[in-house]
Amino acid sequence: MNSVSRGKVWLVGAGPGDPDLLTVKALRLIQQAEVILHDRLVSDAILGLANPEAEMLYAGKTQGQQEEVQEFIFRMLIDYAKSGKRVVRLKGGDPLVFGRGAEEWERMLEAGVEVEVVPGISSSVAVPGIAGVPVTYRGVADGFAVITGHLRHEGQEVDWGKYARVDTLVILMGVATRVAIASELIRHGRPAAQPVAFVERGSTERERVVVATLGEVAAGIVEVANPAVFVAGEVVRVREKLLAAATQAILA
Ligand SMILES: C[S@@+](CC[C@H](N)C(=O)[O-])C[C@H]1O[C@@H](n2cnc3c(N)ncnc32)[C@H](O)[C@@H]1O
Repeated sequence: MNSVSRGKVWLVGAGPGDPDLLTVKALRLIQQAEVILHDRLVSDAILGLANPEAEMLYAGKTQGQQEEVQEFIFRMLIDYAKSGKRVVRLKGGDPLVFGRGAEEWERMLEAGVEVEVVPGISSSVAVPGIAGVPVTYRGVADGFAVITGHLRHEGQEVDWGKYARVDTLVILMGVATRVAIASELIRHGRPAAQPVAFVERGSTERERVVVATLGEVAAGIVEVANPAVFVAGEVVRVREKLLAAATQAILA
């Protein structure tokens, strides 16, 4: 950072959790920041990389308080940047994949605050990938969609029919709503026997993978804990092939 960059907000992606998955730029900014405003999903291991002198502000959102907390975030970012601080707004994954990163960018610009975006590794692709579920695979899945698991947007029901025909569906924030989502996908023509995977706390020591079928999820018999990435599609079977190949390699 040089003198030109004082009094500025960096909108930084922290990746899925493992500090080794930070970008070089994100690490440098975290170490040099004077103020860090972070979300719930940013791991302690990553927060521990900050300068001990840095002011650490937690800005996690709880149900029912989202708007209040978001206003607090806007205010803090503007006030600290205007007082000349180097502010890192640290978000899990990529800062512009859900989590209202672009809204924060917009508000900063409206307030005359300089912003720089530092992309991060998004959990949407990286978390399934690390667990052996590639979001595309030649001959199996030509494409994928990343969708929020919230069932309503701006008062409107989500039209799951729009997504049901996409080869691989990656659903974030869909743990609590998984039964309804699976039921909707089946209703819109996805086979109940289609495999799904939930990858909990991907890239961390507590990672856990739950494999089931859409029908089992719809029946409410699949236990999953937050945070998790929910993947539905034939690519889930690739994991079995990878596990079998890994076992063969060990035995050989
Ligand atoms: C508000 S969204 C933020 C997504 C983030 N910006 C990204 O690019 O990964 C939060 C959701 O991301 C997913 N998520 C983020 N990190 C995760 C991890 N390490 N393991 C599993 N799911 C994760 C979960 O579905 C969680 O509910």
